[in-house]
Amino acid sequence: MNISNELEKIASLCRRKGFVFLSSEIYGGFGSCYDYGPLGVEMKNNIKKCWWEEMTRKKEKIVGLDAAILMSPKVWEASGHLTAGFADELVECKKCHHRFRKDFLQDSHRCPDCQGELTLPQKFNLMMKTFVGPVEDKASQTYLRAETCQGIYVNFKNVINSMRLKIPFGIAQIGKAFRNEITPGNFIFRTREFEQMEMQWFCNPKDADKFFEYFKKERIKWYLKLGIKKQNLRIKEIPEKERAHYAIRQIDIEYRFPFGWKEIEGVHNRGDWDLKNHSKYSNEDLSYFDEKTKNSYYPYIIETSVGVERAMLAFLCEAYQEIGGGRNKNNQSTKKKEIVLKLSKKLSPIKVAVFPLLKNKKELVKKAKEVFKMVKPHFCSFYDENDSIGRRYRRQDEVGTPFCITIDFDSIKKNDVTVRDRNTMKQKRIKIKDLVSFLKEKLEE
Ligand code: GAP
Repeated sequence: MNISNELEKIASLCRRKGFVFLSSEIYGGFGSCYDYGPLGVEMKNNIKKCWWEEMTRKKEKIVGLDAAILMSPKVWEASGHLTAGFADELVECKKCHHRFRKDFLQDSHRCPDCQGELTLPQKFNLMMKTFVGPVEDKASQTYLRAETCQGIYVNFKNVINSMRLKIPFGIAQIGKAFRNEITPGNFIFRTREFEQMEMQWFCNPKDADKFFEYFKKERIKWYLKLGIKKQNLRIKEIPEKERAHYAIRQIDIEYRFPFGWKEIEGVHNRGDWDLKNHSKYSNEDLSYFDEKTKNSYYPYIIETSVGVERAMLAFLCEAYQEIGGGRNKNNQSTKKKEIVLKLSKKLSPIKVAVFPLLKNKKELVKKAKEVFKMVKPHFCSFYDENDSIGRRYRRQDEVGTPFCITIDFDSIKKNDVTVRDRNTMKQKRIKIKDLVSFLKEKLEE
């Protein structure tokens, strides 16, 4: 498949099938923002659920948090985000006035659009400003958070005290973050509004390297479990001069996107940067008193950080398959190719689709609606009676639905259904009374 077309094909599928829409589309879209449609919101929720289960339920000593998006502007002074640490270098074309990130340009003197001369680079801060309260002055100015983890650091003592935790322990959070990116793009890869799934592990500085290695491996395993192939993942060690301002060690977990190897997740050793600075700026002592050694110290923080939408794009790229000539030997379709989204069952937005074999047979429709009503409270389900059964299967393959249930004439006599598997296309007859437990078991595999 032509690589440059592949992302466009996935984006087109996403628009057509209700995964992703342009924000404010009827007004021509807005600033590289996206809305997530009926299937997109299900898929995003599935990604978040898988992450939350992995990082809280399956791990010892990681608790959750949901901090506010709006915080005191002092938080961002302390974190270093208002200074050059969180800024990209920007150049502007003197002729067409288009702006570019300097590090994205091959020639830093000529405009890639019109060959005009470029200005010298200027630092451009990525924080999104807003005002709190009725007066728009400096005193009421704050920012939409640029990373969710700052809400975790400022709650460090609250969480320790309320949960009676001892180091080491972690705090996990999922939430929106905002960055005024100069060059958003590649569909939902880089946007100005996105969701982050971040975990901050607080530990004794002497154990930081050990935990860094542990979480790096755990995070790779998570992607493999959810269907990303090993050969499409790699780790990039970030050299000192390219690291984020807070990191004393940083690796990017990269995925082989159709547009090249790019970061999907960062694992950082943030040292004592955050707790030390928040102590200094807030005058609250955020050091930790170790009762065993009777010493106080600032814990080091190992962070894992991934964008929900960026992970979603990686899962979609991995799952997208075009199959020339259709998959069924008996398929008389004139269609040249079929699309199958081979998503992990855990991530598929619709788990179960229910069809009566024929729309014009009342008894089939009645039974199919009964079955639909039965499965719907358990799984995200979809009812479809339009077009031939083959076309209905293909529509579900295109959005990654793992199981299609058909009610045929035998179903009326025997109280059973056929369950078709997306990947193998094999069908199995299952008694209606056993259907929910059968599907539950299959979806957990
Ligand atoms: N707290 C650390 C932090 O925010 P980061 O490397 O700036 O680190 C972490 O971001 C992850 O957040 C990235 O690996 C990516 O998945 C996601 N992310 C960052 N900026 C993004 C953007 N503009 N659009 C979509 N996702 C983004």
